[in-house]
Amino acid sequence: MQNIYWDLLKKNREKSKDRRIETLFQSDKNRFKEFAIEIEDLYFDYSKTNIDSETLKNLIAYAKNLKIMNSINAMFEGEKINVTEKRSALHTALRNFKANDLTNLYKINKKLLVRFKDLSKFCNQIRTGQKKSGSGSKFTDVVNIGIGGSELGPKLVTAALSEYHNGPKIHFVSNIDPSDILKIIKNLDPNKTLFIISSKSFTTTETINNAKKALKWVCEILGSNGLKNFVAVCSAKEKALDFGILKENIFEFDEWVGGRFSVWGPIGLPVMLSIGTDQFKNFLEGASQIDNHFKNEEVSYNIPIILALIGFWHSSICQYSSRAILPYDSKLEYLPTYLQQLDMESNGKSVNLNGERINYPTTPVIWGHIGTNSQHAFFQFLHQSNQVIPCEFLLGANCLDNKYYDSHHLQLIVNCLAQSEALMFGIKNETQFKEETNQHRNCDGNKPSTILIYKKITPKILGKLLAIFEHRTFAEGLLWNVNSFDQWGVELGKNIARRLTDSISQKDRNNNFSKSTLNLLNKIRKYKNF
Ligand code: F6P
Repeated sequence: MQNIYWDLLKKNREKSKDRRIETLFQSDKNRFKEFAIEIEDLYFDYSKTNIDSETLKNLIAYAKNLKIMNSINAMFEGEKINVTEKRSALHTALRNFKANDLTNLYKINKKLLVRFKDLSKFCNQIRTGQKKSGSGSKFTDVVNIGIGGSELGPKLVTAALSEYHNGPKIHFVSNIDPSDILKIIKNLDPNKTLFIISSKSFTTTETINNAKKALKWVCEILGSNGLKNFVAVCSAKEKALDFGILKENIFEFDEWVGGRFSVWGPIGLPVMLSIGTDQFKNFLEGASQIDNHFKNEEVSYNIPIILALIGFWHSSICQYSSRAILPYDSKLEYLPTYLQQLDMESNGKSVNLNGERINYPTTPVIWGHIGTNSQHAFFQFLHQSNQVIPCEFLLGANCLDNKYYDSHHLQLIVNCLAQSEALMFGIKNETQFKEETNQHRNCDGNKPSTILIYKKITPKILGKLLAIFEHRTFAEGLLWNVNSFDQWGVELGKNIARRLTDSISQKDRNNNFSKSTLNLLNKIRKYKNF
């Protein structure tokens, strides 16, 4: 992996370590154009990073040397690129209804089209009130019970498209913490509430336990008719049937759709219910356009690949250990959390595709929050701490259709741009501070940032944005030579929790736990009096 280009990039880093980003604009008058990519209604600018033409050339050569386009093609073709689980990663097929030609995905496409039609029909019946609750009422509220990929995608998209809502009200329950389900159902009517039990495996502790409580809550009022208020979305039909879900209320998806890549299929049902099937199709269409871009555009003009190369440069070459996601758009409130799972579950790895340990950092810590709120929380750290955090700004050129709020939105725009200026220049460019000698006021600047501008959050543009991020994650995984589609690290903690449960219920008293944990358990017992 660490080939000649890696060495060249290290040399580039050595040479540019102390260089100011702003000087790059003096040596290259067209930098603002050359370090940017535009596709239709999206404009990606990476001119405020410390990447110069030489570095960019080596980054691109690194990607090409790895034959990145072949690996990308392999994903689209359904090759079993998730090697540890011997599965394809074909989430892109969920949004490509036009591909039902004579490719080797023909059968898959046909099946997906039928499933999409069934899901759309169900969705329309719920929205129109044709399909009723076990009490005979129209559903007014929908509760999605799911966690991780079975929550974060639909929650982000539902919130982002709130302007398009014209269906039942959507709620999300994920945590095993009882307060989570209680705070939602206490305001709902079991006669009018539909529950979607979303779980690829249909075994996730949080989801199954919350689903059982919801079932009891409904059936105490509606008896066995209450089952009409439950839908399962999963790739384990038998388990959903065992749970008691009615056959006609089970919507399946394939095991080759990773949980964190699954919002495009039946896991997106809450979104579909809130915005309707036509708008959901626009969401898929946007993503599909990016799929074509990712598959066909050459490396130097390919947004997900360039984003991945910047991520690789910052993490593995510059050794910056985190990345801040800063949407200046309240509609994207849940984007940082969604990207946390997407990037950290996909690429938080220390073993490569050949099963060997690697000695370079892979994905950085992903964190962030919406602007301008984040300015009043952690931007102090971005400007004055001695850590360098590459920042990713996202900004809509438009916000609401309501002109009355234009002045608010203008402030959002100027604040976003001002922050990217401040990160690059630091205090030196500000004339009013020229005489300032107090160190506590100093901002060094020279902090890299990128910005992705879009016209406005619509279903189509949101589809494009999320597909860009999905593909960046995969492309980064390729640059780091890791499998982006498994998540074995999450199993260990789950197993220990199971052993602890057995130990508490005395099924197994000889479990091997540390003295610290046993002591903590005793303290909790004492506080709890059980
Ligand atoms: O524990 C991690 C994980 O497996 C995620 O990858 C997944 O999105 C989440 O749990 C939920 O899994 P499921 O959809 O099977 O309930």
